[in-house]
Amino acid sequence: MCKSIIIRWAIPSVFWFAIDAVAPLCAEVPLGPKWLQTAVFYQIYPQSYFDSNGDGIGDLPGITAKLDYILSVGCNAIWINPIYESPFGDAGYDVADFYMVASRYGTNEDLKNLCVEAHKRGMHVCLDLVAGHTSVLNPWFQQSALDWRNRYSNWYIWTPGAENVTGSQPYPGKDRRPERYLPNFFPFQPALNYGYARPDPKEPWQLPTTDPACIAVREELKRIMKFWLDLGADGFRVDLAASLIRNDPDHGAITALWRYYRAWLDLEYPDAVLISEWSDPAVAITAGFHIDSLLQFREPYRILLGPESRLEGNARIPHAFFEREGGGDIKAFVDEYIRHYTKTKYLGYISIPTGNHDTPRPTWGRNEQDVRTIFAMLLTMPGVPFIYYGDEIGMKFLPEVPNKEGGTLGEVQRCGSRTPMQWSKEKNAGFSTASAEKLYLPIDPSELRPDVATEENDPASMLNFTRGLLKLRRDHPALANAADFQPLYVENNKYPFVYLRLAGTERIIVAINPAERACTVALGKVIELTQLRPLLVQGAAFQDGCLEMDPVSFGIFALE
Ligand code: GLC
Repeated sequence: MCKSIIIRWAIPSVFWFAIDAVAPLCAEVPLGPKWLQTAVFYQIYPQSYFDSNGDGIGDLPGITAKLDYILSVGCNAIWINPIYESPFGDAGYDVADFYMVASRYGTNEDLKNLCVEAHKRGMHVCLDLVAGHTSVLNPWFQQSALDWRNRYSNWYIWTPGAENVTGSQPYPGKDRRPERYLPNFFPFQPALNYGYARPDPKEPWQLPTTDPACIAVREELKRIMKFWLDLGADGFRVDLAASLIRNDPDHGAITALWRYYRAWLDLEYPDAVLISEWSDPAVAITAGFHIDSLLQFREPYRILLGPESRLEGNARIPHAFFEREGGGDIKAFVDEYIRHYTKTKYLGYISIPTGNHDTPRPTWGRNEQDVRTIFAMLLTMPGVPFIYYGDEIGMKFLPEVPNKEGGTLGEVQRCGSRTPMQWSKEKNAGFSTASAEKLYLPIDPSELRPDVATEENDPASMLNFTRGLLKLRRDHPALANAADFQPLYVENNKYPFVYLRLAGTERIIVAINPAERACTVALGKVIELTQLRPLLVQGAAFQDGCLEMDPVSFGIFALE
């Protein structure tokens, strides 16, 4: 039985205003599959992780070989970027065959084996579900493009050939229909047709979501999920999850669609997990996703970690909280975070990933202490943590690497975060035995590049720091994914950011100061304090009711 308590602290106005919170005092929160309560994800870009057969490209047996390493970091779940047959115009996000592992990664049997080996270790495996589009080379699209009616004719959105509907593309050729199709991302990624929430009656090519073709597409996605779940997968990260339905301003139809899938999963695969690439947890989680991430293309993340324009070097506008200049507005972040958190707290999890394959690594423009300070926050916040491969050893973002498989996106250079994992000081950093020119992308050429083997042997390394943080998270119920969260000191453009995590009688205070200047907070004014016991602290001390923080520092304390 769940009991609730009301917690109320009266806090002076300079601090976080009075907090009312209803905190459940039980572990049994209805947040989807139980394994998510302790899940920590590790994202793998498979091309660059570990090459087991010496062809220069990472593969599935390579991932299987590294499961023990991943577990040793403290991650017990993986999300792998798309592994399906593809012409790789967008690194595999242009799927040619949803039911087949791309031969460069291995076979369906290799994936099955990866899942078996992961499960033996108590780990879970999530695949990338590219739900919104396919490659133009997908046989469904090839059929759809034919100039005679067939089962696939309306599986994609075809607009009149003469009219130039914004974004529409021609697909001319022998036996091809004269209309144009709508892409979902790159022009070679035609959008699958899940229908229009509000079709314009003047545009008969806009089909309603109830059209038989849209229903067939909807059901095909279910078949794809079923296929991989039956093979052993534990769930999906859904690519561009919000994009499926068009002209749906109030999210009503997209919510209905994902709730439909979620209801089916709850019934048939209750342990399966849906993770959205949406970056709007209040909408995505209420639509049925178990996890939604705050990502670089939306405000809350950008206020915290910086926009994609971090690529523009020091001309970073607006300043993020995690910049040494210390001009970031943590209050704006927390206000947005709390809005999402209060709506989703008992339904699902918010994730703030360390990085991903689309955004510069956290080390870009920062030193290791800066990154540790970021990790201290991301790995002590509520929700399910996601660590992007290589971030745990401090791999660098390499803006000079060549464009590969659609990595360059206008101004944004994504390949810099997609280079081979650095395992050791051996040839090709231990990633592959192939000759250097055959590698998927070049290895970081720096002699100082970090690698796993070296960091294993250094107790003070970034790798062991990451391990330490994740161990703390495992060992302390107050830091668990679903444990409660209360901001304690959050001031517009001021540092540090201080918050409380709590579960049962355990209370943990986390203080984060990414700015290059010292700061002090009279914590005793915020919360009744007896003693703060340091759990993991770098440059912070608690004295006479005050928390004193060095430039770029953090402290994690047990409140006793
Ligand atoms: C998502 C993926 C990105 C891909 C795009 C199109 O944003 O993360 O890498 O290019 O969708 O599928």
